[in-house]
Amino acid sequence: MIKYLGSKRTILPKLMAALNSLDDVNSVLDAFSGTSRVGYELKKSGYQVFSNDINAYAHILAQCHVEAEASTTTDTASRLIAELNQLPGKPGYITATHCLHSRYFQPHNGEKIDAIREQIERWDLQPLLKAICLTSLLEAADRVDSTTGVQMAYLKQWARRSYNPLQLRLPAMLNAATDRRCHAYQLDALEAAASIKADCAYLDPPYNQHSYLGNYHIWESLVRWDRPEVYGIACKRIDCKSNKSDFNSKPKALPTLTELIQRLRTPNLIVSFNNEGFIDREAMEHLLSQKGYLHTIELDYKRYVGAQIGIHNPAGARTGVVSHLRNKEYIYLVSAKPLSPANQAQLQAGAAVPLIPQA
Ligand SMILES: C[S@@+](CC[C@H](N)C(=O)[O-])C[C@H]1O[C@@H](n2cnc3c(N)ncnc32)[C@H](O)[C@@H]1O
Repeated sequence: MIKYLGSKRTILPKLMAALNSLDDVNSVLDAFSGTSRVGYELKKSGYQVFSNDINAYAHILAQCHVEAEASTTTDTASRLIAELNQLPGKPGYITATHCLHSRYFQPHNGEKIDAIREQIERWDLQPLLKAICLTSLLEAADRVDSTTGVQMAYLKQWARRSYNPLQLRLPAMLNAATDRRCHAYQLDALEAAASIKADCAYLDPPYNQHSYLGNYHIWESLVRWDRPEVYGIACKRIDCKSNKSDFNSKPKALPTLTELIQRLRTPNLIVSFNNEGFIDREAMEHLLSQKGYLHTIELDYKRYVGAQIGIHNPAGARTGVVSHLRNKEYIYLVSAKPLSPANQAQLQAGAAVPLIPQA
């Protein structure tokens, strides 16, 4: 799966422990699905999953990793991916914009990306097969990019992995454990909350001013294939200027989350947030404790790679000091009913520090 800021890869076991401590939960709405790592794990554990994200690339990832059934798609998808791997490179939009005008990929890989993307469009596949091919291309491009994991900038010197030839692989797919199909949606989370019914919601909204569209603009262009006008050194899509999520705004983040929670049609709720975000623990606990029985799990983590590398000027010289290298992740669990002692013990076993029951 792709490198992604805020991906819940490292806290997945704790999230699953929190979810498993709830009784009577068979279906989950993942309202901010991103890479689909969480949805994939949920489907693997037997839950019916409704994945949702506002960005087109995240919707494609969820169609592949969550909605598609491995049993009915693997053979055809493998054949298509093998064919795509044979295509010779042909320069196009990605080569011009993201290899020559900017330097996110080496031109030999940009030409392959262009040729493969054009062929996927020409095939006019049914939506889930198209999503699998696009996910395969996105994940292959991610393995040879020249960034620190976000597309706000590219590296001054080519990353070592960027020299590798782009190679597509069959993406991870699963079979649902039950006959209740999983689905992927591309909606604003507020709309998803009002229209999708499930036993539990998982909310992992953006936590600061950095927009996901701006951080992953190349994935959005690659999926939409709309060859947008770009601006700035980073060559971002022009719509990054106007397409902002309310969760990226300090004054709007808390009121928007409050409204989202009011709209939810799920009795139980899990929220991830960290201590660097716009909503602090006190405000979050105040909001969530009105919804049900709240347990807060606090986890101590290493910050993302950019923070580990430090702050440098365009000449590569270190200019600033990173304030801290660790942060705290919070998992807030809100249950409609009090947790049984056995379930509390299970949650406690999965959590790093003692829980704080609120209600
Ligand atoms: C912290 S990331 C989620 C990461 C995900 N849990 C994972 O493990 O990969 C937040 C996600 O919210 C999405 N997003 C931002 N604003 C949104 C909105 N208003 N409605 C739905 N999704 C939104 C972004 O595209 C991004 O993928």
